Amino acid sequence: MKIAFFDAKPYDKPSFDKYGAQYGVEFKYFDTKLSPDTAELAHGFDGVCVFVNDNINAQVIDQLHDMGIKLIALRCAGFNNVDMKHAYGKIHVLRVPAYSPYAVAEHAAALLLTSIRRIHKAYNRTRDFNFSLNNLTGFDLYGKTVGIIGTGRIGRVFTDICRGFGMKVLAYDKFHAQGYDNGDTVRYVTLDELFEGSDVISLHCPLTEETYHIIDEKSLEKCKKGVVILNTSRGALVDAEALLSGIKSRKVGAACLDVYEEESEWFFEDFSGHILSDDTLARLISMPNVIVTSHQAFLTEEALNNIAETTAMNITQMLAGGQCPNELCYIGGSAQDCRSGKCF
Ligand code: NAI
Repeated sequence: MKIAFFDAKPYDKPSFDKYGAQYGVEFKYFDTKLSPDTAELAHGFDGVCVFVNDNINAQVIDQLHDMGIKLIALRCAGFNNVDMKHAYGKIHVLRVPAYSPYAVAEHAAALLLTSIRRIHKAYNRTRDFNFSLNNLTGFDLYGKTVGIIGTGRIGRVFTDICRGFGMKVLAYDKFHAQGYDNGDTVRYVTLDELFEGSDVISLHCPLTEETYHIIDEKSLEKCKKGVVILNTSRGALVDAEALLSGIKSRKVGAACLDVYEEESEWFFEDFSGHILSDDTLARLISMPNVIVTSHQAFLTEEALNNIAETTAMNITQMLAGGQCPNELCYIGGSAQDCRSGKCF
């Protein structure tokens, strides 16, 4: 089984080589992202393996289909970058639904603590032998309220972390998780109640038409002054221009972003020494109360191994057995996990 692996990075190869050998999958690594211009590279392969910023639009799907490509193996959980409606019935789309919710939730916690205790500022200061504490005053998380949007795998781990700090949790999800709401310190509320009552808001829902710009000018208006916005989910959940305005007007006290709306052009690459032409991103990064990491939340050894093993297993199951429990379907106007065991 030969798979063209797009957007390959040095940290991908050890785990994919290991599990590829174990499951009989040969990965050929391409540095470039998958796009209409690069799809030709997939000629002669059984499938492609892609990540969050590969653009699998209708044109790419048609190109792959014409070449006889049988599957698209996403080595991530989110699938907003795949035109699922167009892919359905043509090419099987497989994903890694969970690889380490702890990796992402712990990164969100790391960003939050770094931001509110000004660790990023202190680190730079002491390296310069500047031991002043001026302007480093933070605030306690204990007793504060965190609003968690999306109470799936990651949202629930983040809830536990926040409870460990003694925070109260206001949660919003389209589908309520059983046993999550304890009627006291962890409660499901409406989105408006979450915006109005939270000191910190953390996003853990997928990017869909419904959640696009869930944080925008209107929602920020409803928030408490000084609210901290955490986004480790998908960039377009936050209207970056509205966030920037909120920071300038001091409505937003801090923002921690592991994802950004237009990240596919920048993230994962080294642009140091270049002029960053995205003014919104440059302005956000320049703010003292904004921390940007470049879609790094998943990057732990445990997660990389789980991603590689599940991806290799998905590919083997689909190519050898014609069936995979991690296949995505497009039914009733939306993409979802295949429940029948066989999509088409
Ligand atoms: P999950 O599928 O376990 O949970 C997602 C939750 O969002 C579910 O409870 C679902 O009901 C809820 N949801 C769906 N539509 C909603 C809506 N309209 N409003 C509110 N909630 C809604 O997914 P998981 O594993 O917790 O991942 C969450 C997100 O984290 C993924 O969609 C992905 O975008 C992001 N992610 C980011 C990573 C990073 O490295 N920064 C790595 C992995 C995931």
